[in-house]
Amino acid sequence: MEHAEKHTREQKKSSEKKDEVVIHIKGLKKSFGEHEVLKNINLDVKRGENVVVLGKSGEGKSVTIECIVGKLIPDEGTLTVFGEEVAEMNERQLKELRTKIGFLFQGAALYDSMTVRENMEFPLTRVLKLKDRAEIDQRVEDVLESVGLADAVDKMPSDLSGGMRKRAGLARTLIVKPEIMLYDEPTTGLDPITSREISQLILEMQKKYKTTSIIITHDMECASITADRVVVMDEGEYIAEGTFDSLKKSKDEFVRSFF
Ligand SMILES: Nc1ncnc2c1ncn2[C@@H]1O[C@H](COP(=O)(O)OP(=O)(O)O)[C@@H](O)[C@H]1O
Ligand SMILES: [Mg+2]
Repeated sequence: MEHAEKHTREQKKSSEKKDEVVIHIKGLKKSFGEHEVLKNINLDVKRGENVVVLGKSGEGKSVTIECIVGKLIPDEGTLTVFGEEVAEMNERQLKELRTKIGFLFQGAALYDSMTVRENMEFPLTRVLKLKDRAEIDQRVEDVLESVGLADAVDKMPSDLSGGMRKRAGLARTLIVKPEIMLYDEPTTGLDPITSREISQLILEMQKKYKTTSIIITHDMECASITADRVVVMDEGEYIAEGTFDSLKKSKDEFVRSFF
């Protein structure tokens, strides 16, 4: 009986955690001079969820991400991460927040003069300030294993294919075990086969590391593979949301135009 009660309690706890809103955005506005970019952004991302953002170029998708990491301060609205208002954080709090957020952007590059191993170690020693050699080696080995690059540990970035470099970039982001992953056009510029591999990897990483992710993409295959939920942005707002399959059948012509 006692055991059963404990079990229920634990189940309750884990389901509460699952429903936890990790990123909460309400009424977010951001202009640059006269140019109104974000007009009214509303979004709740739950723990463990992959949300894909679709939208034309120049809509403000990247601006939204920069607000989430506190690089840009919104003009109006609320934006909390783990329940804390980002715009009110001081430098120390922002630094701490950024250790929990992994950011993979299109132009993310490895350090060319360092081996893959040294590239992986960099965030561990510089950001997490780890010193224990065995722990560092273990983390490097584990993360490269999970992106299928175990054999490339001593190679230079110039010896890797474009797809392998992208995997290595993802590994370098994941090695600090971020709770949130922000992917800004992760497959842009890659060939279709590599794009699919990266999309599948994003999905695997969500399952393996239980990350909460926002994925900005134009790549509909990437969206179909990675999304638990899709939001469509138009003129500074999210105008539709749903599963990939439900939006694909949307009656709205603009929404359908992406598919
Ligand atoms: N720091 C900035 N200063 C001025 N304008 C900016 C800045 N960042 C972005 N913008 C403008 O905001 C708009 C949205 O940009 P962005 O978020 O990069 O679009 P996308 O949806 O393609 O990611 C663009 O017109 C861009 O020029
Ligand atoms: Mg962008």
